[in-house]
Amino acid sequence: MKLQSLQTQSQRAAFAGIFLILLPNFFPNLFDPLGRAYPSMFSEWNAPSAKHIRLLEGALHQEISEKQQSDIWSPLAYQGWKPCLDSAGVPFNPEKSQGYIQVFLDGGLNQQRMGICDAVAVAKILNATLVIPHLEVNPVWLDSSSFTDIFDVDHFIEVLHNEISIVKELPNMYSWSTREYYATGIRPTRIKTAPVHASANWYLENVLPMLNSHGIAAIAPFSHRLAFDNLPKEIQLLRCKVNFQALAFVPHIRILGDNLVQRLRSSLSKNKGTKGERGKGKFIVLHLRFDKDMAAHSACDFGGGKAEKLALAKYRQVIWQGRVMKTQFTDDELRQKGRCPLTPEETGLLLRALGFNNNTRLYLASHKVYGGEARIATLRKMFPLMEDKKSLASDKERAQVEKKASLLAAVDYYVSMHADIFISASPGNMHNAMLGYRAYKNMKTIRPNMVLLSQLFLNETMEWPEFQQAVEDGHRNRQGQIRLRKETQSIYTYPIPDCMCF
Ligand SMILES: *[C@@H]1O[C@H](CO)[C@@H](O)[C@H](O)[C@H]1NC(C)=O
Ligand SMILES: *[C@@H]1O[C@H](CO)[C@@H](O)[C@H](O)[C@H]1NC(C)=O
Ligand SMILES: *[C@@H]1O[C@H](CO)[C@@H](O)[C@H](O)[C@H]1NC(C)=O
Repeated sequence: MKLQSLQTQSQRAAFAGIFLILLPNFFPNLFDPLGRAYPSMFSEWNAPSAKHIRLLEGALHQEISEKQQSDIWSPLAYQGWKPCLDSAGVPFNPEKSQGYIQVFLDGGLNQQRMGICDAVAVAKILNATLVIPHLEVNPVWLDSSSFTDIFDVDHFIEVLHNEISIVKELPNMYSWSTREYYATGIRPTRIKTAPVHASANWYLENVLPMLNSHGIAAIAPFSHRLAFDNLPKEIQLLRCKVNFQALAFVPHIRILGDNLVQRLRSSLSKNKGTKGERGKGKFIVLHLRFDKDMAAHSACDFGGGKAEKLALAKYRQVIWQGRVMKTQFTDDELRQKGRCPLTPEETGLLLRALGFNNNTRLYLASHKVYGGEARIATLRKMFPLMEDKKSLASDKERAQVEKKASLLAAVDYYVSMHADIFISASPGNMHNAMLGYRAYKNMKTIRPNMVLLSQLFLNETMEWPEFQQAVEDGHRNRQGQIRLRKETQSIYTYPIPDCMCF
């Protein structure tokens, strides 16, 4: 499955990277806003009413004990692991650079972030100089923000200056080596065939000779092209150092993020704050990726009836030409396997069952929600103090990030880094990125037990008390307890033990 979605991603990226430049008129659908517009404009979708009415009633009337409340909000106890990235430094000699490494990164912000960390690692393996990575425009997110628009580039170079050399731009003699140059022909300085999860040796055998003969190597595609296993300890530490220390957002994103966090924590918002209320000044971030792209790709039924089903099927045809393997399965089969993202309503029921209540401040980290406000109405009923960047930021504050999907995602990422508790409705890139960061900081992250939850939601006779108990039991050990990285797992999701010391 992992590989399948990887292929889909790189296939799509290949589209974006090459064909969009060469053959724009052959694929008008990719430019046509119709494929990704708001559903309400096409009446493809009937506002789904609450699906789990019985559970919803129970959730809205449940009393939460003091004990349950204080448990859920209390920070994680220290689990014995500490960050120890400073032992990373294996000095390098900038005079002895083997040449320039250039990478072009596909995907959304989180995938590009991993690509940046891997690019630093590859440059280190080769003793090469890294050119600040180029971020491709993603066909879903359509944001052309560059590395320097999103990340603080001087901080990046400074934090890593003892480890590798990094340049913002290629020197003049290599200025021909651009994205356009590689998109319009077969070029001797391009590495096009880096295998998924390539070893350090693969780079030494295949890229070093190119560096030695041309002085430069452009690697594209590069996403997921460096293995997680069998790399020197210092390379692993370096990857984490990039992820957790070197990559900081530009100041205006950090300032906006800090303002939002402060507003979430202040009791001045709509909430008056009852006496002795637990979780006062605290907030939870719910990451909800529920856009049309996700809804279509998951091939699950989200309760919008026949019109929605048809609309999603059409979208799959246009974007992936029917190559969505999951459509072989019925909705129930997918649900039973825990392969359907939780709907906003289901996420709300999960949170209520865990002990959050209508006093809980909940920040919704989300881009477009397929179906708009109607889709989250039931969730809002359970969490009336729900906020998002739109409700918390002023028009002026929003102006700098408006319509820029990567910057908006960066704001959500920043707020999520600071949340007391983080939860994601689907185990995707954002979930994984936060799992990694918050493990590194020993902060609470709830990992929904998708298989358990789908079984509970499929049972139409289940009453709230049983549901509540089953959810609570099933998530006792899914709130940030340390999990060591297993072979092939991502170091960015599981930074222990590679990046932390006991
Ligand atoms: C990179 O530099 C280190 C330390 O100077 C050296 O041990 C290693 O062999 C070099 N590797 C390459 C590929 O140049
Ligand atoms: C929360 O629910 C209680 C009853 O369970 C109600 O009295 C109170 O007004 C609600 N608070 C908000 C902010 O909706
Ligand atoms: C549904 O839940 C009820 C109550 O917990 C339980 O008795 C029943 O066995 C469940 N049904 C299925 C099909 O799991």
